[in-house]
Amino acid sequence: MSGNLPRIDGERLWRSLMEMAEIGPTANGGSGRVALTDLDRQGRDRFRGWCIDAGLDLRVDRCGDMIARRPGRNADAPIVVTGSHLDTQPLGGRFDGVYGVLAGLEVIRTLNDHGIETEAGLELVNWTDEEGVRFGGGCLASAAFAGRYTVEEVLARRDPDGLSFGDELQRIGYAGDAPCGGYPVAAYFEAHIEQGPVLETEGCQVGVVLGGQGQFNFMVTVRGEEGHAGTLPMTQRRDAFVGAARMAVALSELPGEVEPPPVITTGFVRVSPNSRNTVPGTTTFSINCRHPEAATLAELERRIRDLVAGIAETAVLDVAMEKTSEAPPVTFDGGCAAAVRDAAAALGIAHRDMVSGASHDAFNLARVVPTAMIFVPCERGISHNEAENAKPEDLAAGCDVLLRAMLSRAGVA
Ligand code: GLV
Ligand code: MN
Ligand code: MN
Repeated sequence: MSGNLPRIDGERLWRSLMEMAEIGPTANGGSGRVALTDLDRQGRDRFRGWCIDAGLDLRVDRCGDMIARRPGRNADAPIVVTGSHLDTQPLGGRFDGVYGVLAGLEVIRTLNDHGIETEAGLELVNWTDEEGVRFGGGCLASAAFAGRYTVEEVLARRDPDGLSFGDELQRIGYAGDAPCGGYPVAAYFEAHIEQGPVLETEGCQVGVVLGGQGQFNFMVTVRGEEGHAGTLPMTQRRDAFVGAARMAVALSELPGEVEPPPVITTGFVRVSPNSRNTVPGTTTFSINCRHPEAATLAELERRIRDLVAGIAETAVLDVAMEKTSEAPPVTFDGGCAAAVRDAAAALGIAHRDMVSGASHDAFNLARVVPTAMIFVPCERGISHNEAENAKPEDLAAGCDVLLRAMLSRAGVA
C-alpha cells in the first residue's frame, strides 16, 4: 500500500510552522505561547481557521482540547488519532509540540489534495497545556482524556497567582462541552522533535519511540522569618531563600549518587517579599525529577523528602512539600512502533529505536490506546530554548512517516 501513497508537502508544513511562530515571538527567535494566555488563544484561533479550511469538524472538549475530525468511510470503525500541543514554554522554541500538530494537519491536507478516503476516521488534536508551566504539571488535559485525573480535578488546578485552569479556559474562549475522552480509538501517533542530540549525532532522520521515562513534581514552600537586611545579624537569620537555595543545590547533586542517574530540576522560584532590603521570609520552588524506572522514582521521592526536611531542620525553617503531579514510565505499543519503523523503512529513511527523555501527551494516551511516537532531529538537541531549530527536510520526513503509520491503521481503499 505505502508505495502508492503521496508525499506530504514539506514547504507547506514549514510555512505553517513559521506562521504559527508569528504568534508570541520572543526576542531571540523563539515562541512564547504559555497555555491559557491570550497568546495561546491566538494560536488556537489560527489553528481553528486552518482546520475549517481543511474541511474538518472541530469540537472542543471540557479540558479545552481541540479535536478536528476527518470522517472515514466506516463511521463505526474506531478512529486513528494524531496530535501534540501548540502551547510553549515562556521562552520556548518554534517546534516543540507545534510540529506534531501541524504535521497532523499536513497529513490531512495531503489526503485532501489527493482525494484519499480512509476506512476509519482520523482525528487531529491540539492538547491543552502540555508544557505545565502554570498548573503544577504538564499534560493535564491528556491525563483527563486517559482517565488519570477527572476533568473537575484539572479545571480546579490553580497557578501560582491563584487563577484556576477552568476560569482561564473560559476567559480565552476554549472551555468546550464535548466529553474529554471515553470513546474508542484504534491508535494514537504523535510526531515530535527529539529534544535531545541522539538522532543528529547518529545521522538518523527518524526515531521510533518505544516509551519514555516517568517523573514527579513537587512545589516546596520554605518559611523562615522576615527581617531588616541591615540590622539582623547573619547568625540570627531564618532566611527562606538561602534555605531553598541549599535544597536546590543538594537536589542537583543527588543524581550523582544514583545509577542510572535521574535528572532533577528546580525551574520555578518565587521569593517573598522579594525586596532587596528584607531577609526573605518565604520561598516557593519547584522540583521536577525524572527517571526511566518506577522503583527508582519511588526511592528518589523518599530521598528528596528526607533531604529537604533535613536541610529545613538544620536551618530552623518550616517546610511544606506538595506533590503536584506524577507520571510513571511508559512503554508504547509494539504494533504501533512497528508501523512507524515499517513506514520509515519503506521510505528509505535512516531510523533507530529510542526512549524519550521528555514527557508527551502520548504517554497518557498510551494508557488507554495503542500508541507510538515519531521523533525527528533538532539542532544540537536544544529544546525549551528560543534557539530550538530543525531542518525542513527532517520535519518533512517525519511527517511522511506519520502519514504512512496513520494510514496503516486507518486503512485506505
Ligand atoms: C515537556 O515539555 C516535558 O516537560 O517533558
Ligand atoms: Mn512537547
Ligand atoms: Mn516542551
